[in-house]
Amino acid sequence: MSDLLTSDRLPGLIQAGYIVAAICFIAALAGLSKHETAKRGNIAGMVGMGIALLATFALAARNAELGDGRALGVTLAIILVAMAVGAVIGAWRARTVEMTGMPELIAMLHSFVGLAAVLVGFNSYLEHGPGHGSLGTIHDVEVYLGVFIGAVTFTGSIVANLKLSAKMKSAPLTLPGRHLLNLAVLLVSAGLAVWFVADESLLDGGDLGTGIVPLVAMTVLALFLGFHLVAAIGGGDMPVVVSMLNSYSGWAAAAAGFMLGNDLLIVTGALVGSSGAILSYIMCKAMNRSFVSVIAGGFGQEAPVSDDTDYGEHREITAADAADLLAHAGSVVITPGYGMAVAQAQYPVADLTAKLRARGVTVRFGIHPVAGRLPGHMNVLLAEAKVPYDIVLEMDEINGDLPETDVVLVIGANDTVNPAAAEDPTSPIAGMPVLEVWNAREVIVFKRSMATGYAGVQNPLFFRDNTSMLFGDAKAKVEEIIHDLPE
Ligand code: TAP
Repeated sequence: MSDLLTSDRLPGLIQAGYIVAAICFIAALAGLSKHETAKRGNIAGMVGMGIALLATFALAARNAELGDGRALGVTLAIILVAMAVGAVIGAWRARTVEMTGMPELIAMLHSFVGLAAVLVGFNSYLEHGPGHGSLGTIHDVEVYLGVFIGAVTFTGSIVANLKLSAKMKSAPLTLPGRHLLNLAVLLVSAGLAVWFVADESLLDGGDLGTGIVPLVAMTVLALFLGFHLVAAIGGGDMPVVVSMLNSYSGWAAAAAGFMLGNDLLIVTGALVGSSGAILSYIMCKAMNRSFVSVIAGGFGQEAPVSDDTDYGEHREITAADAADLLAHAGSVVITPGYGMAVAQAQYPVADLTAKLRARGVTVRFGIHPVAGRLPGHMNVLLAEAKVPYDIVLEMDEINGDLPETDVVLVIGANDTVNPAAAEDPTSPIAGMPVLEVWNAREVIVFKRSMATGYAGVQNPLFFRDNTSMLFGDAKAKVEEIIHDLPE
């Protein structure tokens, strides 16, 4: 064992393990981009993580064996205890979390990555002291950036978690001159960076050196910046922020990778950082938000709720009449939204789909990119209920077919099917691409009341001549329809 740990070939093997793990992570991302391959993607990710853990374990054991000051047994015990505690908490949270609670859980996990980057940064400074020469300068910059991004991610993610779990008011905190305040924090942090990099004081015998002063000062400022950036965003827009914090946490991990000289951490951090940024961009586009203003933390004002427009009367339909309409339809499109998740209606919806298909009705799903409350929310629910992937289409794929569709079932969706987005330039959601369900012959909207959706905007769809409202809990109503379907 000792021979293996001290062997010259072990570092090469560890590097090879890192490369295989990195390839697994890339395969995981590629797999997760499609329904059909998502499971395989998850497995690739798990295998990659297993290899990464093994390689890290081997590296720590080798360092201990070569005499880093700690006994091999103690090193292994510390790692194993930390892994066991992490695995128990992780498995418990993953098993108990509701789909709707996922964003807040993810926000909490990001805060850990941020905190880890801060701790790695401080440890790196305290261990090696200020750098000398050009390589030293590069190391100082890595430490400084890692701590900065980590601290912003840490407090930003905690605020996101508190807002999403309703432990903190979700309304945006808009301090006067908040953009100037953010700018001032950035400028002072840049000034402190110059001081930190220029500092060459030696750390010896318990002396922390003067470089610790700018490092601590910047950390306090960055912790404030993370808090302030996210506090300034409306609670409802938090999923976009969570995706951005995901990106920040990736960059924080990459910075930690540079500090530790760990290639795998750099690659993984870059993958998380860039995929989080791409996801944030896609979400912003689908919600018609500006990416730049999101980064500046300057969006998320609550949409105005008051609206004096007279939209006319709405029409209601019973489950029995809806069943009759569906039984005689040639093509049906189902557009689910947040209400399907709330009602947990995906199972009866899948059942209804199977029954209608068995009767020869063409049934397809139209998924809006931001339907629900997190990216891919509807896809996950439908996959859970075993709806075949090939009938689940993206908004852009289905919109062109809606004029030829007999019946559209809008199940717990609201903003994502609002014609005002396309037709009313004064609407708060004007310009947001939506599912153009009103073009179908008949539209049935499943919801419990005439209440507005997430954006707080009235939906003229409910008052259209070809729309009928089916009031009640979506799950109960779909079950009634299944029961009432004629033989
Ligand atoms: P929403 O506009 O949020 O509307 C959901 C509707 O479901 C509500 O009008 C509600 O009406 C109904 N509902 C709730 N519980 C129900 C139940 N048990 N049975 C039947 N209906 C129920 O949904 P959407 O169309 O999915 O739009 C998503 C919104 O979230 C968009 O504005 C989007 O921008 C925003 N958003 C999404 C994301 C992501 S990544 N998905 C991120 C941030 C923000 P009643 O109360 O009358 O039942």
